[in-house]
Order: sequence, then structure tokens, then C-alpha cells
Amino acid sequence: PMIAVLNGPNLNMLGMRQPEIYGHATLDDLEQVCIQTAERLDVAIDFRQTNIEGELVSWIQECRGRARGIVINPAAYGHTSIALLDALLATGLPTVEVHISNIHRRDAFRHHTYTSQAAIGVICGFGVRGYALALQALYDMIEDEDE
Ligand code: DQA
Repeated sequence: PMIAVLNGPNLNMLGMRQPEIYGHATLDDLEQVCIQTAERLDVAIDFRQTNIEGELVSWIQECRGRARGIVINPAAYGHTSIALLDALLATGLPTVEVHISNIHRRDAFRHHTYTSQAAIGVICGFGVRGYALALQALYDMIEDEDE
């Protein structure tokens, strides 16, 4: 099975961007965490990042029929984008939302995400390790479905 790992705006700046909040791992390091987890689980992943909202919408749409599930860090678009929520609802694929930082101990405007309404669950505050947790959780759910 294939799991899409989609990353939103400014995550290409990981490692340089507010390291006290997001840590020192770069986007490449994050991809390595996902690749290693996928190898351990024996699943394929399609790892991507974009700063463009519409590109995320298109990528989510393309997951239909191609991916068994989606791990998404919508970054700031999670807080603003009904289009991303609608795209996730339209695919109907099991989705886990990830945030590197604990959005609930930050600004009030980060406490709500539209996208989480389409997610099975949300993992936040565990740094890039959250992606490994998300992949594991999705994998377990797909396994259960296949039984
Ligand atoms: C983030 C949290 C968002 O509030 C923020 O806009 C980001 C990154 C995170 O991974 O912690 O860009 O999604």
C-alpha cells in the first residue's frame, strides 16, 4: 500500500525557521524519518511539500485510487482553508493530521484547524517524530480494514 505524506507552506524552511518552536530537523531530515518508518512498516510513501494551497488541493484529489491514506501537515492552511477540508472530505481516505509544534500551547488562532474535521486524529507537539506516529497509526488502521 502507498501512503501520501503531504506538507504545506513554510515547511521547506524547517531547521532554519524558529528552531525553538520547530526544532533543528530540516525537511530532508523529516523525509528520512518518513522513509525509515515506511521501510520498517513495508509500505510505500509519496512525500511532498508545497507552499501553494491549490497544489495541496490537487495532490489530495490525486490520492484517490492511488493512496490508501494521507498524512498531512497543512501548516498554516489548516487554520484557514475550507478548500483543503473539502478536498480531504472528497477523497474519503483515512487521514491523520500532524503538526510539529503543540498548536494548543501557542496562539489562539492556531488552536482550530478546518482540516482536522476530515481527520481520524491529530498528532501535535512531538516534533518530526509525530510523522512516524502518524504513519504507524494509519498503517495499523489499513491493516485492520484489510482483515
Ligand atoms: C505547524 C503549525 C502551524 O500553526 C504553523 O502555521 C506551521 C507549522 C506545525 O507543524 O507545527 O506552519 O503546522
